Amino acid sequence: MLQSMTPSGFSNLYKHLQIEIEKEYYSDLPVVEGNFANLGQVFTNVIKNAIEAMDKGHGKITLVTEYKKETDSVVIECRDTGKGIADNQMKNIFQPFFTTKPVGKGTGLGLYVSHEIVRRAGGTISAKSEEGKGSVFSIELPCKRGETRKIP
Ligand SMILES: Nc1ncnc2c1ncn2[C@@H]1O[C@H](COP(=O)(O)OP(=O)(O)O)[C@@H](O)[C@H]1O
Ligand SMILES: [Mg+2]
Repeated sequence: MLQSMTPSGFSNLYKHLQIEIEKEYYSDLPVVEGNFANLGQVFTNVIKNAIEAMDKGHGKITLVTEYKKETDSVVIECRDTGKGIADNQMKNIFQPFFTTKPVGKGTGLGLYVSHEIVRRAGGTISAKSEEGKGSVFSIELPCKRGETRKIP
C-alpha cells in the first residue's frame, strides 16, 4: 500500500519541496488486520505531518516496514528530519483538535483519527521525537488471523 502511495500520491501537492523519501520495505509482508482505505488514511496523515514538519521543505523522510516474528505483527515507521515535537506537547498529539499549526492549516484531527483506526485494527501507534532533530512515528498492526498464509 505504501508503495502505491508515495511519492506519487504526494508529488502533486509537494513537488516544489526538496524532500527526499527513502524506503526500506520488507519484502513479502503478510496481510494485516484493518481496513485498507482506513489504513491508507493513517499513512497519509503521518506522512503529511512529516512533510509539514520540514523547515522550508528541506529534509528526509524514511519509511520502513518490518515483520516482527515474536508478535506476528507488522511495524511501519515514518521517520522524518523535521522540527520535532516538544516534550510538553508529546502527551497531547493524539488528542482531538490538538494542533500547533496556524488556523486553516491544521485541524488537529489527523493523529486522533489515525490512533482510532489503528486501535480498532488491534494495533498501536506511538511517537518518539527529539526537538530540532526529527520524529519517528511507529504503527504496529497484528497480522490477519484465521487464514492460511505463508509465515515469512
Ligand atoms: N512528524 C511530526 N513532526 C513534528 N510535529 C508533529 C509531527 N506529527 C505531528 N506533529 C504534531 O502533532 C500535532 C497534531 O497532529 P495532527 O493530529 O495530524 O493535526 P494537524 O496536522 O492538523 O496539526 C501537530 O500540530 C504537530 O504539532
Ligand atoms: Mg496532520
